[in-house]
Amino acid sequence: MTPRFIAFEGCDASGKSTQARILADRIGALLTREPGGTAGGRRIRSLLLDHSPEGRNLDVRAEALLMAADRAQHVAEVLRPGLAAGLTIITDRYIGSSLAYQGYGRGLAVAEVRRISEWASGGLWPDVIVLLRVPLETAMTRLIEERTPDRLENEGAGFLIRVIAGFDAVAAADPQRWRVVDGVGSVDAVAERVWKAVEDSAP
Ligand code: TYD
Repeated sequence: MTPRFIAFEGCDASGKSTQARILADRIGALLTREPGGTAGGRRIRSLLLDHSPEGRNLDVRAEALLMAADRAQHVAEVLRPGLAAGLTIITDRYIGSSLAYQGYGRGLAVAEVRRISEWASGGLWPDVIVLLRVPLETAMTRLIEERTPDRLENEGAGFLIRVIAGFDAVAAADPQRWRVVDGVGSVDAVAERVWKAVEDSAP
């Protein structure tokens, strides 16, 4: 038995996208993501990750609302119908990312960000949320070495520190739902930890 609706969360370069894919293959789940899990959402995503000067000017409240708009569409078009059809679904990022990035990272009131997300999703929460946790140094090294920075990844160490601490706080406040997995190590080693964490959380 595995949970039916699983979210992967973590800071940039935490390895969660790789791990979400591995778990989805292993359990035959539908893999989806935010932002950009729908056609409309992909248009919203390009606004959010824009490199242009206009994109860089995006107001934090506008950013939070675009994340919520993407989520509402994703829930309506993919998540609810999929779950109703009996699919197991894994989403690469969900409400937890809004709490950590727009709340702790950008400094919006976390309770308000939560309220907007819950309104957008109609209160749909995952059965289990896997937080892939890597230390700041690991995330920074991977970002510098492996990735092209986008608007959100360009914010620097202070932002990343707040996001990592934000995820820790959100996970600690809801240990029923969140499973914190150490993301340091080989892809296979981490995948095994993820598998155990998800198996342990089965109803
Ligand atoms: P993406 O390239 O998908 O990042 P990753 O591969 O690390 O998942 O970009 C998504 C970015 O959007 C990422 O920096 C986190 C951010 N984000 C938020 O700030 N709030 C949210 O609610 C979500 C879903 C993502």
